Amino acid sequence: LPLEGLQAPGGGPLYLRLRQVLEEAIRSGRLGHGDALPAERDLADYADVSRVTVRKAVDDLVRDGLLVRRQGSGTFVAKPVSRVQQPLSRLTSFTEDMARRGLDTRSEWLERGLFHPSPEEMMMLGLAAGTLVARIGRLRIAKDIPLAIERASLSPEFLPDPTVVTSSLYAELETKNARPVRAIQRISACNVKEPEAGLLAVPVGAAGLSIERISYLASGRVVEFTRSLYRGDTYDFVAELTLGE
Ligand code: GLP
Repeated sequence: LPLEGLQAPGGGPLYLRLRQVLEEAIRSGRLGHGDALPAERDLADYADVSRVTVRKAVDDLVRDGLLVRRQGSGTFVAKPVSRVQQPLSRLTSFTEDMARRGLDTRSEWLERGLFHPSPEEMMMLGLAAGTLVARIGRLRIAKDIPLAIERASLSPEFLPDPTVVTSSLYAELETKNARPVRAIQRISACNVKEPEAGLLAVPVGAAGLSIERISYLASGRVVEFTRSLYRGDTYDFVAELTLGE
């Protein structure tokens, strides 16, 4: 890395100059995707700057999604995200969508349990006064890339113990004969704010897709009311249109 001469006068704040050098190395491929960044102390030594300066430059690049920090193992150059083509006409689960592409998924749990419902949840799920709501909040990750934040609310009738969901919600519902067969999905554009930006590893203000799904059993009962926030740079929702009456 061309870190000499960073200290030359007149080039703006030091951390920004360091950031520029690192960014240039990533964009040119000298630092490859998945490569580990040298330790903070070594970078500070090479560049002859303080560790605080290194941390600021690295924080900046993490915030902008060029670097990722992995707890316990260090900082790495982020892998480029290839866009996912998602058909809009099939009622599938996230796990199935990713499996079809050969990608393993995992989730970081944001919330999982029974809670007192909000008035909106009571209304959407038709909950009687005094009943609790089952909530499943997850950061959904494929190939180490955080793709979406999903918060699902269900009647406890379908999910009396939310902690049994360890990977796929739909797979769990299937075992209870409560897998939805129909859903209404609404997609709208948004700008990602904190704390979601941090979770999704995108800059504050980045484009996002906010998705609401209400899904039903064949009987017409609502099973799930889910609000999701997808990264705008990872998803193309594709629908087939036919000429109808
Ligand atoms: C999609 C939907 C969610 C649904 C989820 C279930 O991502 N947007 O409304 O809850 O799939 O996925 P899984 O079965 O992988 O938990």
